[in-house]
Amino acid sequence: MKAVECTKYGGVEFLKLVEIEKPSPKESEVLIKIHATSVTSGDARIRRADPFLIRLIFGCKKPRKSVLGVVVSGEIEAVGKSVKKFKVGDQVFGSAGMKFGAHAEYVTVSENGVLALKPDRMSYEEAAAIPFGATAALHFLKIANIQQGQKVLIYGASGAIGTLAVQLAKNQGAIVTGVCSTSNIKMVKALGADKVIDYTLEDFTKNGETYDVIFDTVGKSSFWGALKSLNKNGHLLMASAGMGLLMGSAIVSPFINKKIASGVIEETADDMNFIKLLIESGKLKAVIDKTYSLEQIAMAHNHVDQGHKKGNVIIRILP
Ligand SMILES: NC(=O)c1ccc[n+]([C@@H]2O[C@H](COP(=O)([O-])OP(=O)(O)OC[C@H]3O[C@@H](n4cnc5c(N)ncnc54)[C@H](OP(=O)(O)O)[C@@H]3O)[C@@H](O)[C@H]2O)c1
Repeated sequence: MKAVECTKYGGVEFLKLVEIEKPSPKESEVLIKIHATSVTSGDARIRRADPFLIRLIFGCKKPRKSVLGVVVSGEIEAVGKSVKKFKVGDQVFGSAGMKFGAHAEYVTVSENGVLALKPDRMSYEEAAAIPFGATAALHFLKIANIQQGQKVLIYGASGAIGTLAVQLAKNQGAIVTGVCSTSNIKMVKALGADKVIDYTLEDFTKNGETYDVIFDTVGKSSFWGALKSLNKNGHLLMASAGMGLLMGSAIVSPFINKKIASGVIEETADDMNFIKLLIESGKLKAVIDKTYSLEQIAMAHNHVDQGHKKGNVIIRILP
């Protein structure tokens, strides 16, 4: 089968389209014929080994799992002997998680992995725009346990996590403010944000407004400014916090009446099933910026590397 290997950390020139053996499912695994996947900000960060810690976790000179890609959207072609949850022909979407391997024509995933039936009437490409952002957004928003009428600010509202966080927070009854740049204002409003702040014109930490929840999805807001803009007992959620911020927040947390959450997300099949129901009831939609073929994956990584994608970058594997 065709797959893209990351042969060395660094630029997109180290991504090679290769022929490798098609995997076969173990006893409790399903084999998925991938129709669409995504190049996520996570894939691009691993390829770049950014931050350096990635080398300690995923391999020193190159990723041990050389085929990157976590997002899966496709059809089950075969199942292992003991698989009960899925059958051949099921259309599924989800995440291959730390096994990676989704930048390929086929991948195997445990039947107990982060997998759900694909929502009816959603294309494979649209479905590939959901798992990465939705599981991360849901993970953090669950921590804040948003109540009806609470004021929630989503910083980086136009990215993969942000576009889904705006919709999920709105769905939980929040009054949502999205922060993005000028060209994304219309899109963020269309996703349901009650108010949009253009970060190129206004600093949300300096306008006197306060919030019950501030979710920085891209790690680019001011930590102290965000804390100052939180109401008492408010939650600061940080999807992308480096070591400095992690240590800083651990030090200040005991001394403030505000809660700070960061760290690595946990994705579950229950989350995917919950997300599927929201999509089917029209409450969550996919945002796709650009679509590429597997052969064009270097272009897709280049686009993601710019840090300004709108929602998701999709790789279409089957026409
Ligand atoms: N904690 C975890 O386990 C976990 C899980 C998943 C992802 N993450 C991390 O979460 C981060 C976000 O992921 P993502 O995929 O959602 O990112 P993304 O889609 O790549 O974010 C792109 C968006 O960020 C916006 N942006 C760029 N600079 C900005 C700024 N200064 N202020 C406000 N918005 C800005 C861009 O909008 P403009 O073009 O308008 O600037 C663009 O729409 C990544 O660092 C990823 O590694 C962490």
